[in-house]
Amino acid sequence: MADAEIGVIGGSGFYSFLDDVTEITVDTPYGSPSDSLFLGEVAGRQVAFLPRHGRGHHLPPHRINYRANLWALRSVGVRQVLGPCAVGGLRPEYGPGTLLVPDQLIDRTKARAQTYFDGKPLPDGSIPNVVHVTFADPYCPTGRRAALAASRGRDWEPVDGGTLVVIEGPRFSTRAESRWHAAQGWSVVGMTGHPEAVLARELGLCYTSLTLVTDLDAGTETGEGVSHEEVLRVFGQNVGRLREVLFDAVAALPDSTARDCLCVGAHDGWDLGIELP
Ligand code: ADE
Repeated sequence: MADAEIGVIGGSGFYSFLDDVTEITVDTPYGSPSDSLFLGEVAGRQVAFLPRHGRGHHLPPHRINYRANLWALRSVGVRQVLGPCAVGGLRPEYGPGTLLVPDQLIDRTKARAQTYFDGKPLPDGSIPNVVHVTFADPYCPTGRRAALAASRGRDWEPVDGGTLVVIEGPRFSTRAESRWHAAQGWSVVGMTGHPEAVLARELGLCYTSLTLVTDLDAGTETGEGVSHEEVLRVFGQNVGRLREVLFDAVAALPDSTARDCLCVGAHDGWDLGIELP
Protein backbone atom coordinates (compact mmCIF):
# COMPACT_ATOMS: atom_id res chain seq x y z
CA MET A 1 0.00 0.00 0.00
CA ALA A 2 1.17 3.53 -0.76
CA ASP A 3 2.42 5.65 2.12
CA ALA A 4 0.41 8.65 0.98
CA GLU A 5 -1.97 9.69 -1.78
CA ILE A 6 -2.00 13.46 -1.27
CA GLY A 7 1.02 15.73 -1.05
CA VAL A 8 1.23 19.18 0.50
CA ILE A 9 4.28 21.32 -0.25
CA GLY A 10 4.59 24.06 2.35
CA GLY A 11 6.09 27.42 1.40
CA SER A 12 7.79 30.30 3.22
CA GLY A 13 6.81 30.20 6.88
CA PHE A 14 5.05 26.85 6.50
CA TYR A 15 7.39 24.19 7.81
CA SER A 16 5.04 21.73 9.46
CA PHE A 17 1.51 20.66 8.67
CA LEU A 18 0.49 17.64 10.73
CA ASP A 19 0.94 16.92 14.43
CA ASP A 20 1.28 13.18 14.44
CA VAL A 21 3.78 12.28 11.72
CA THR A 22 6.21 9.66 10.58
CA GLU A 23 9.34 11.19 9.11
CA ILE A 24 10.97 9.39 6.19
CA THR A 25 13.90 10.31 4.00
CA VAL A 26 13.60 9.65 0.29
CA ASP A 27 16.30 9.76 -2.34
CA THR A 28 15.56 10.18 -6.04
CA PRO A 29 17.46 9.83 -9.35
CA TYR A 30 17.42 13.65 -9.39
CA GLY A 31 19.02 14.08 -5.99
CA SER A 32 17.60 14.86 -2.59
CA PRO A 33 14.30 16.64 -1.98
CA SER A 34 14.22 19.78 0.18
CA ASP A 35 13.71 17.78 3.37
CA SER A 36 12.28 14.57 4.78
CA LEU A 37 8.70 13.69 3.96
CA PHE A 38 6.34 13.89 6.92
CA LEU A 39 3.57 11.31 6.63
CA GLY A 40 0.31 11.60 8.50
CA GLU A 41 -3.44 11.43 8.21
CA VAL A 42 -6.11 14.04 7.53
CA ALA A 43 -9.77 13.03 7.48
CA GLY A 44 -8.80 9.43 6.86
CA ARG A 45 -6.57 10.38 3.92
CA GLN A 46 -2.87 9.61 3.89
CA VAL A 47 -0.87 12.81 3.39
CA ALA A 48 2.81 13.52 2.77
CA PHE A 49 4.04 16.97 3.75
CA LEU A 50 7.24 18.45 2.36
CA PRO A 51 8.60 21.87 3.41
CA ARG A 52 9.59 23.40 0.08
CA HIS A 53 12.45 25.49 1.46
CA GLY A 54 13.49 22.86 3.99
CA ARG A 55 12.99 23.17 7.73
CA GLY A 56 14.44 26.46 8.82
CA HIS A 57 14.16 27.83 5.29
CA HIS A 58 17.71 27.14 4.10
CA LEU A 59 16.85 26.81 0.40
CA PRO A 60 16.17 29.95 -1.67
CA PRO A 61 13.65 29.51 -4.52
CA HIS A 62 16.28 29.06 -7.23
CA ARG A 63 18.09 26.35 -5.24
CA ILE A 64 15.08 24.15 -4.58
CA ASN A 65 15.36 20.76 -6.25
CA TYR A 66 11.84 20.82 -7.67
CA ARG A 67 12.39 17.64 -9.66
CA ALA A 68 13.47 15.68 -6.60
CA ASN A 69 10.56 17.09 -4.58
CA LEU A 70 7.84 15.98 -6.97
CA TRP A 71 9.57 12.68 -7.70
CA ALA A 72 9.88 11.92 -3.99
CA LEU A 73 6.20 12.62 -3.43
CA ARG A 74 5.16 10.41 -6.32
CA SER A 75 7.45 7.63 -5.15
CA VAL A 76 5.52 7.30 -1.88
CA GLY A 77 2.22 7.08 -3.75
CA VAL A 78 1.14 10.72 -3.98
CA ARG A 79 -1.10 11.50 -6.94
CA GLN A 80 -2.60 14.86 -5.93
CA VAL A 81 -0.56 17.82 -4.73
CA LEU A 82 -1.59 21.02 -3.00
CA GLY A 83 1.04 23.74 -3.27
CA PRO A 84 0.52 26.75 -1.00
CA CYS A 85 2.95 29.64 -1.50
CA ALA A 86 3.50 33.26 -0.53
CA VAL A 87 3.01 35.84 -3.28
CA GLY A 88 2.87 39.58 -3.82
CA GLY A 89 -0.37 41.16 -5.01
CA LEU A 90 -0.28 42.97 -8.34
CA ARG A 91 -3.63 44.71 -7.87
CA PRO A 92 -4.57 47.01 -4.99
CA GLU A 93 -7.59 44.85 -4.20
CA TYR A 94 -5.36 41.80 -3.68
CA GLY A 95 -3.92 42.99 -0.39
CA PRO A 96 -2.15 41.00 2.34
CA GLY A 97 -4.24 38.08 3.52
CA THR A 98 -5.91 37.46 0.15
CA LEU A 99 -6.11 33.81 -0.87
CA LEU A 100 -6.02 33.46 -4.64
CA VAL A 101 -6.32 30.11 -6.40
CA PRO A 102 -4.74 30.81 -9.80
CA ASP A 103 -5.83 29.21 -13.03
CA GLN A 104 -2.93 30.45 -15.15
CA LEU A 105 0.81 30.75 -14.89
CA ILE A 106 3.53 32.87 -16.48
CA ASP A 107 7.09 31.58 -16.27
CA ARG A 108 9.70 34.32 -15.92
CA THR A 109 12.29 32.10 -14.26
CA LYS A 110 15.64 31.78 -15.96
CA ALA A 111 17.73 28.90 -14.75
CA ARG A 112 15.69 26.03 -13.38
CA ALA A 113 15.51 22.42 -14.47
CA GLN A 114 11.92 22.24 -15.59
CA THR A 115 11.55 18.83 -17.17
CA TYR A 116 12.27 15.18 -16.44
CA PHE A 117 12.59 14.60 -20.17
CA ASP A 118 15.71 16.48 -21.13
CA GLY A 119 17.28 13.86 -23.36
CA LYS A 120 20.29 13.43 -21.09
CA PRO A 121 21.29 10.04 -19.78
CA LEU A 122 19.79 9.20 -16.44
CA PRO A 123 22.05 8.11 -13.59
CA ASP A 124 21.28 4.49 -14.50
CA GLY A 125 22.57 5.05 -18.05
CA SER A 126 19.23 4.98 -19.87
CA ILE A 127 18.27 7.88 -22.10
CA PRO A 128 14.75 9.25 -21.76
CA ASN A 129 12.64 10.28 -24.71
CA VAL A 130 11.57 13.81 -25.43
CA VAL A 131 8.11 14.59 -24.09
CA HIS A 132 6.04 17.76 -24.51
CA VAL A 133 3.15 17.68 -22.07
CA THR A 134 0.01 19.71 -22.63
CA PHE A 135 0.08 22.63 -20.23
CA ALA A 136 -2.60 25.01 -21.55
CA ASP A 137 -4.36 24.72 -18.21
CA PRO A 138 -1.56 24.29 -15.71
CA TYR A 139 -3.66 23.51 -12.64
CA CYS A 140 -5.94 20.63 -11.77
CA PRO A 141 -9.60 21.70 -12.11
CA THR A 142 -10.69 19.23 -9.42
CA GLY A 143 -8.04 20.39 -6.98
CA ARG A 144 -8.94 24.03 -7.64
CA ARG A 145 -12.60 23.32 -6.87
CA ALA A 146 -11.64 21.58 -3.64
CA ALA A 147 -9.40 24.47 -2.56
CA LEU A 148 -12.01 27.12 -3.37
CA ALA A 149 -14.78 25.23 -1.57
CA ALA A 150 -12.55 24.66 1.46
CA SER A 151 -11.74 28.35 1.71
CA ARG A 152 -15.36 29.45 1.32
CA GLY A 153 -16.33 26.88 3.94
CA ARG A 154 -14.01 28.68 6.34
CA ASP A 155 -15.48 32.12 5.56
CA TRP A 156 -12.36 33.15 3.75
CA GLU A 157 -13.62 34.28 0.36
CA PRO A 158 -10.93 33.29 -2.12
CA VAL A 159 -10.19 34.86 -5.47
CA ASP A 160 -11.21 32.26 -8.02
CA GLY A 161 -8.65 32.34 -10.81
CA GLY A 162 -5.96 34.71 -11.93
CA THR A 163 -2.45 34.55 -13.26
CA LEU A 164 0.57 33.78 -11.13
CA VAL A 165 3.79 35.15 -12.61
CA VAL A 166 6.85 33.37 -11.29
CA ILE A 167 10.12 35.30 -11.23
CA GLU A 168 13.57 33.83 -10.77
CA GLY A 169 14.38 35.72 -7.59
CA PRO A 170 15.79 35.61 -5.06
CA ARG A 171 15.42 39.39 -5.25
CA PHE A 172 12.00 40.98 -5.41
CA SER A 173 10.90 42.88 -8.53
CA THR A 174 11.85 46.44 -9.32
CA ARG A 175 8.96 48.89 -9.51
CA ALA A 176 9.23 48.91 -13.31
CA GLU A 177 9.08 45.11 -13.51
CA SER A 178 6.21 45.05 -11.08
CA ARG A 179 4.24 47.70 -12.99
CA TRP A 180 4.88 45.78 -16.18
CA HIS A 181 3.60 42.55 -14.59
CA ALA A 182 0.48 44.37 -13.43
CA ALA A 183 -0.03 46.02 -16.83
CA GLN A 184 -0.06 42.57 -18.44
CA GLY A 185 -3.12 41.79 -16.37
CA TRP A 186 -1.27 39.28 -14.17
CA SER A 187 -2.63 38.92 -10.66
CA VAL A 188 0.09 37.83 -8.24
CA VAL A 189 3.85 37.34 -8.31
CA GLY A 190 5.88 34.63 -6.60
CA MET A 191 9.16 32.75 -6.85
CA THR A 192 8.29 29.07 -6.44
CA GLY A 193 5.17 28.24 -8.51
CA HIS A 194 7.35 27.23 -11.44
CA PRO A 195 8.56 24.63 -12.29
CA GLU A 196 6.54 22.85 -9.60
CA ALA A 197 3.31 22.77 -11.61
CA VAL A 198 4.83 21.55 -14.86
CA LEU A 199 6.91 18.85 -13.18
CA ALA A 200 3.78 17.61 -11.46
CA ARG A 201 2.07 17.48 -14.86
CA GLU A 202 4.99 15.53 -16.31
CA LEU A 203 4.56 12.97 -13.56
CA GLY A 204 0.81 12.76 -14.14
CA LEU A 205 0.09 14.35 -10.77
CA CYS A 206 -2.79 16.71 -10.07
CA TYR A 207 -1.38 20.02 -8.89
CA THR A 208 -3.22 22.93 -7.30
CA SER A 209 -1.61 26.20 -6.32
CA LEU A 210 -2.98 28.15 -3.35
CA THR A 211 -1.36 31.56 -3.26
CA LEU A 212 -1.44 33.65 -0.11
CA VAL A 213 -0.78 37.35 -0.66
CA THR A 214 1.73 38.64 1.89
CA ASP A 215 2.35 42.10 0.41
CA LEU A 216 1.50 44.45 -2.39
CA ASP A 217 4.35 44.24 -4.87
CA ALA A 218 6.59 47.26 -5.49
CA GLY A 219 4.64 48.65 -8.44
CA THR A 220 1.29 48.40 -6.66
CA GLU A 221 2.17 50.06 -3.35
CA THR A 222 3.99 53.30 -2.80
CA GLY A 223 6.09 52.30 0.23
CA GLU A 224 9.69 51.23 0.32
CA GLY A 225 9.15 47.87 -1.35
CA VAL A 226 8.67 44.33 -0.16
CA SER A 227 10.97 42.76 2.41
CA HIS A 228 11.48 39.13 3.30
CA GLU A 229 10.59 39.90 6.94
CA GLU A 230 7.23 41.27 5.80
CA VAL A 231 6.54 38.14 3.74
CA LEU A 232 7.34 35.83 6.65
CA ARG A 233 5.41 37.94 9.17
CA VAL A 234 2.21 38.10 7.10
CA PHE A 235 2.47 34.46 6.10
CA GLY A 236 2.86 33.59 9.78
CA GLN A 237 -0.28 35.56 10.61
CA ASN A 238 -2.26 33.53 8.08
CA VAL A 239 -0.67 30.11 8.31
CA GLY A 240 -3.20 28.83 10.87
CA ARG A 241 -6.22 29.41 8.68
CA LEU A 242 -4.35 28.30 5.58
CA ARG A 243 -3.61 25.02 7.33
CA GLU A 244 -7.31 24.58 8.08
CA VAL A 245 -8.25 25.31 4.48
CA LEU A 246 -5.72 22.71 3.38
CA PHE A 247 -7.20 20.14 5.78
CA ASP A 248 -10.63 20.71 4.24
CA ALA A 249 -9.24 20.68 0.72
CA VAL A 250 -7.49 17.36 1.40
CA ALA A 251 -10.77 15.91 2.67
CA ALA A 252 -12.61 17.16 -0.44
CA LEU A 253 -10.20 15.69 -2.99
CA PRO A 254 -11.46 12.61 -4.81
CA ASP A 255 -9.99 9.21 -4.19
CA SER A 256 -6.77 9.15 -6.19
CA THR A 257 -7.85 6.05 -8.08
CA ALA A 258 -10.98 7.91 -9.25
CA ARG A 259 -9.24 10.88 -10.86
CA ASP A 260 -10.80 11.87 -14.17
CA CYS A 261 -9.09 15.21 -14.85
CA LEU A 262 -6.73 16.29 -17.62
CA CYS A 263 -3.68 15.76 -15.38
CA VAL A 264 -3.95 11.99 -15.41
CA GLY A 265 -3.66 11.58 -19.17
CA ALA A 266 -0.91 14.15 -19.64
CA HIS A 267 1.39 11.45 -21.02
CA ASP A 268 -1.11 9.78 -23.29
CA GLY A 269 0.55 8.78 -26.51
CA TRP A 270 4.11 9.31 -25.28
CA ASP A 271 6.71 6.65 -24.83
CA LEU A 272 8.16 8.12 -21.65
CA GLY A 273 11.46 6.31 -21.79
CA ILE A 274 11.73 6.55 -18.02
CA GLU A 275 9.99 4.48 -15.45
CA LEU A 276 7.96 6.64 -13.12
CA PRO A 277 8.22 5.77 -9.46
N1 ADE B 1 6.59 36.21 -2.38
C1 ADE B 1 5.90 36.95 -1.52
N2 ADE B 1 5.79 38.24 -1.93
C2 ADE B 1 6.45 38.30 -3.12
C3 ADE B 1 6.70 39.33 -4.05
N3 ADE B 1 6.24 40.56 -3.85
N4 ADE B 1 7.43 39.04 -5.15
C4 ADE B 1 7.88 37.78 -5.35
N5 ADE B 1 7.67 36.77 -4.50
C5 ADE B 1 6.96 37.02 -3.39
